[in-house]
Amino acid sequence: MKLKKGLLLGTATAATQIEGGDENNNWARFAREGKVDDGTSPVRANDHYNRWREDIDLMAEMGMQIYRFGIEWSRIETSRGVFSEAALAHYREEIEYMRSKGIRPMLTLHHFGNPLWFEDMGGWTCSEAVDIFMNYAERVIDYLGDIVDDYITINEPNVYCLNGLFYGIWPPERKSITAYVKAFSNMTAAHISAYRMIHAKRKEMGRAPDETLVGFANHLRVFEPKNKRNLWHRFCAFITSYMFQDAITRAMMSGKCFFPVLRRKGVKKGRYYDFIGINYYTRSTVSGISDGTREDCFHNDLGWEIYHEGLIRLANTLSDKYGREYPVFVTENGTCDNTDSFRSRFIYDQLKLISETDNRIERYYHWSFMDNFEWREGESARFGIVHCDYQTQKRTVKDSGKLYSHIIANCGVTDEAYEKYVAGSSYHS
Ligand code: BGC
Repeated sequence: MKLKKGLLLGTATAATQIEGGDENNNWARFAREGKVDDGTSPVRANDHYNRWREDIDLMAEMGMQIYRFGIEWSRIETSRGVFSEAALAHYREEIEYMRSKGIRPMLTLHHFGNPLWFEDMGGWTCSEAVDIFMNYAERVIDYLGDIVDDYITINEPNVYCLNGLFYGIWPPERKSITAYVKAFSNMTAAHISAYRMIHAKRKEMGRAPDETLVGFANHLRVFEPKNKRNLWHRFCAFITSYMFQDAITRAMMSGKCFFPVLRRKGVKKGRYYDFIGINYYTRSTVSGISDGTREDCFHNDLGWEIYHEGLIRLANTLSDKYGREYPVFVTENGTCDNTDSFRSRFIYDQLKLISETDNRIERYYHWSFMDNFEWREGESARFGIVHCDYQTQKRTVKDSGKLYSHIIANCGVTDEAYEKYVAGSSYHS
């Protein structure tokens, strides 16, 4: 397999999932309350806050070209309006280090983690949410904006709102369509304000407009009717896709707000992306209001269908809608494979399809660099190309990680590497 020319490869992580040590965020509290399925907590995670240098060294050894990571809001703004210089300096040191190792940083401002003081005010549903988020975001850009060119404002607003505010299975455990709509609307306004603010501040720092790339990463699925001839299935597929991803994506990309996204003050029609970001994992097969999964296919260890074509289909749909002139960044893609028995094939198959398409996919951030705290599933769901022994914090590169490094170094997969890593790696149903 030959890799698409110019495609940059790296990995993605999120602060709450890897850093450890922070008691002051919504997920640490959720874990303290015993609500994480396997009883683990992000307060342990990968201890990356202390081990960041060794982790970046490993990334560099593995040849990573790009790295998408998050910063923990609750560490930076410990209570409302109180900023920790030490936390900001910490991130500055880490970013400077990755740059010195030739890794291009992409910074995520918000990835599911809220400071407790914000959560307790109502979080993303509170009327001041946009101003509060912007105060934090401005401080971050003032401090780090000169050393980071690429930004994700908000990660997966749809997953955050659906799980936390509609199904109530994530913090803050609400089950309210009103809360869902409020948070969708506030996150849209926050993204649009942050998009403008980052560009304005970077301009003041002397950067040309095309030296700054800002977007967001939405969780996108292919929603397919179980039976294509069944009108009800088709209607449900359309409506779930619309409510979960289509309306929010359109609102955040272009400021065009329709229910369930309401227009907040200051939101005007425009273009609020410099790239099309896609987090892609699976396809949903729909026969009712909640989504399902086909049985006659391969699944990962969380039961998600493995469907690589879905990423290409979504990339094409979004490129057609939002402009073929904008690059597509796969801001997350990966799979839960607890024993690393099929991840190598997964990576091979996905990158092969990306390399064969004429869609302008320019970057691929594999989720994830190392096994980490997988939200409600805790430490028990492993997505990393590097294994983490949480007791000892020892990192070990998995075979899939070795294959990924090989692909970067060789711009593809040689026959020998195919035999060694891919041939014996197979999916299960
Ligand atoms: C999230 C990650 C998560 C991954 C795997 C995405 O929805 O952004 O934080 O770990 O999927 O579930």
